[in-house]
Amino acid sequence: MSTDTTSLDDLDFSPGGLAIGDDVADLLFREARSVNTFADGDVSDEQVGTVYDLVRWGPTMMNTVPLRLLLVRTREGRERLAAHMAEGNRDRVLAAPLTVVAAADPNFHEHLDVLVPHLPGVRDRFPDPAAREALARSSAMLQIGYLIVGLRAAGLHVGPMGGMDAAGIDAEFFAGNGWKSLMVLNLGTPAGPESARPRAPRLEFDQVSATV
Ligand SMILES: Cc1cc2nc3c(=O)[nH]c(=O)nc-3n(C[C@H](O)[C@H](O)[C@H](O)COP(=O)(O)O)c2cc1C
Repeated sequence: MSTDTTSLDDLDFSPGGLAIGDDVADLLFREARSVNTFADGDVSDEQVGTVYDLVRWGPTMMNTVPLRLLLVRTREGRERLAAHMAEGNRDRVLAAPLTVVAAADPNFHEHLDVLVPHLPGVRDRFPDPAAREALARSSAMLQIGYLIVGLRAAGLHVGPMGGMDAAGIDAEFFAGNGWKSLMVLNLGTPAGPESARPRAPRLEFDQVSATV
């Protein structure tokens, strides 16, 4: 890869440019697609763990790190999950090499003594479960973005899906721990060129930005 540097100081941050090469930019964004159908093959827990070890360094509010992951591999697990997916997403969950339910943990505060060592007692500042859940959802969503990009960096392709009965998934899998499902991600390698819809355009910078 063209970004294989011995030191971050070697990276070229010339104005208006990217410090990563075109190959990496293509891999992470320009050529990366949301995949619907996957080739046969396995995605191991270890692969997902390696990606998590990388993307956990992405920022979250107050370093709350609220993303939680349920890896769904067994036939029984897939069927339990598929029952709560929108109809068009059901077969995808049954067929993907691995499916991950990405969730937010409203009880993230239990980890704050470790995660926020510079603020002793900070866990006691979150007594309201509804406020904790809102906070957990927003930072976990952010972490899902990091996760998708990290999975691509590991050569995996992702089919993200929000079409689901989230409350049903929570009751099915998270009654014991209170996690709140946010998104379901199918992982693997594409079955072929028809694995994704034709690429749709994106908005231009001047359509999405303003300067004051
Ligand atoms: C939060 C989220 C929810 C999505 N939900 C679904 C879904 O329920 N079913 C589906 O087929 N695709 C779903 N998608 C895939 C999007 O349609 C896809 O990422 C988008 O069209 C861009 O496609 P591309 O990455 O191939 O360019 C979802 C994507 C995201 C990020």
